[in-house]
Amino acid sequence: MNKRNNRELTALFEVSKVLTSSFDLEKNLYSVMEILSKKLDMTRGCVFLLDKKTDEIKIVTAYGLTEEEIQRGKYKIGEGIVGKVIETGLPMFIPDIEKEPQFLNKTGSRPDKKGISFLCVPIKIEEEMLGVISADRIYTLSQGDVDDDLRVLSIVASLIAQFLKLWESYKVMEDENLLLRIQLKDRYNFPNLVGQSPSFQAVLKTVMKVAGTDATVLLFGESGTGKELIAKTIHFQSKRAKGPFVAINCAAIPENLLEAELFGSEKGAFTGAVKRIGKFEQANEGTIFLDEVGELPLSLQPKLLRVLQERTVEPLGSSKTVKVNVRIISATNKDLSEEIRKGSFREDLFWRLNVIPIYIPPLRERKEDIPLLIEYYLKSFCSIYKKNVSIDEDTLKILISYEWPGNVRELANTIERLVVMSEGRIIKPYDLPDTVRGVIKMNPKLSGELKLPTEVEEIERIRIVDTLPKFNFNIRKTAQALGLTERQLNYRIKKYGISIKKGI
Ligand SMILES: Nc1ncnc2c1ncn2[C@@H]1O[C@H](COP(=O)(O)OP(=O)(O)O)[C@@H](O)[C@H]1O
Ligand SMILES: [Mg+2]
Repeated sequence: MNKRNNRELTALFEVSKVLTSSFDLEKNLYSVMEILSKKLDMTRGCVFLLDKKTDEIKIVTAYGLTEEEIQRGKYKIGEGIVGKVIETGLPMFIPDIEKEPQFLNKTGSRPDKKGISFLCVPIKIEEEMLGVISADRIYTLSQGDVDDDLRVLSIVASLIAQFLKLWESYKVMEDENLLLRIQLKDRYNFPNLVGQSPSFQAVLKTVMKVAGTDATVLLFGESGTGKELIAKTIHFQSKRAKGPFVAINCAAIPENLLEAELFGSEKGAFTGAVKRIGKFEQANEGTIFLDEVGELPLSLQPKLLRVLQERTVEPLGSSKTVKVNVRIISATNKDLSEEIRKGSFREDLFWRLNVIPIYIPPLRERKEDIPLLIEYYLKSFCSIYKKNVSIDEDTLKILISYEWPGNVRELANTIERLVVMSEGRIIKPYDLPDTVRGVIKMNPKLSGELKLPTEVEEIERIRIVDTLPKFNFNIRKTAQALGLTERQLNYRIKKYGISIKKGI
């Protein structure tokens, strides 16, 4: 192999390496032109791309040209050598640009055109013209020949064509990703944290303040109060929004697997262990959400403490430590001080997690938020299920007086069910699930202020009103369910003035 061939091979190898190194279009193409110049004496290498919308051919990158010269390098299809190559799809070689009238020298980058040859080859993929690549060359006897140069340039052009195709699909993907990220940012934005009670407003204020920092946050409150929603809001409104949000539920994973799950493992670290990237590493540059952190086994607590102190993890079965840059948000529905007293949670770990504590009160302690949340979820589920339903006054009263042991999660589920099941436009008390309606407790008339006979009557009335719709207002079946005869039921319906038409 002669010296020239050898240089060609090295150059081509380097070009392919550069083109697969990143998706930075301009940087990669510039490096390619640099390689052509340094290794193969092709100077002033340019990549022109065809803009399919305007049919204009523009330089995207050029080695050895000034910014001004690049700006001037614009052609129409068919114009000049560059335009001709695009038009015909065939390579062109100009032995001496000084003698070639078609050579326009638009960039003005060659004050002295003496003895310069010009090579220009199309960049195309399956007959689709993407652009051209061009270079100047001064031939001396010892420096290869034109055919060699055209062959090398054609190979480079086809490598660039493949790169451009990949780059295009990457761009589409990147745009989609950006869109998704914007959607997430909107989804986990403050307007989606509903509540105007003073206690919830205080929570929001803290959330807004800490979102801008990297501070470790501990969320505590009953199940369903919105701890995870708040953790995501903090992440997606923070500087780390572009990084990952990785959640792990410490209670849901068996103790013997949790360590590998959190910190990763090397192959063979324990029986059946595969190499696994732990959640902390996955969350690098982002946020890790340690849900139910109060359930973290005592045996793993020192390891978590170490991550918090040193910001490094040590995968199971590995002697190496890995640096991680993560923000830590944890949540618990347990009273951790009680766990500390019992000896099931380490105090030093608690103080590391508890840098910014945020307590989210249960729904029953902020009843002002219930109507707002109902309105919010009614609107949202109506739009999801394409329905138009509302809730009447009485029903709303019952919903407000209900204790909501499952908090906002239970409320959201209840509203979803009501919207799905509703046949009419207005939701009435008898549409409510039994748990919510909880006949006696919920009715203000039954608070013990009435005389017993009246209270008994009220219970009777409510039971009948509730049961009728369940049997589609069929008297026989309703009576049977209530343990009454039809006559007894009819008597009571009349007595209490109960309407036996399905009310809408
Ligand atoms: N303030 C709120 N505004 C709107 N939706 C909420 C609010 N709080 C909780 N939710 C919703 O209630 C459900 C339960 O919340 P989640 O964050 O999973 O609670 P936790 O983690 O405390 O158990 C989720 O669907 C969440 O979107
Ligand atoms: Mg939760």
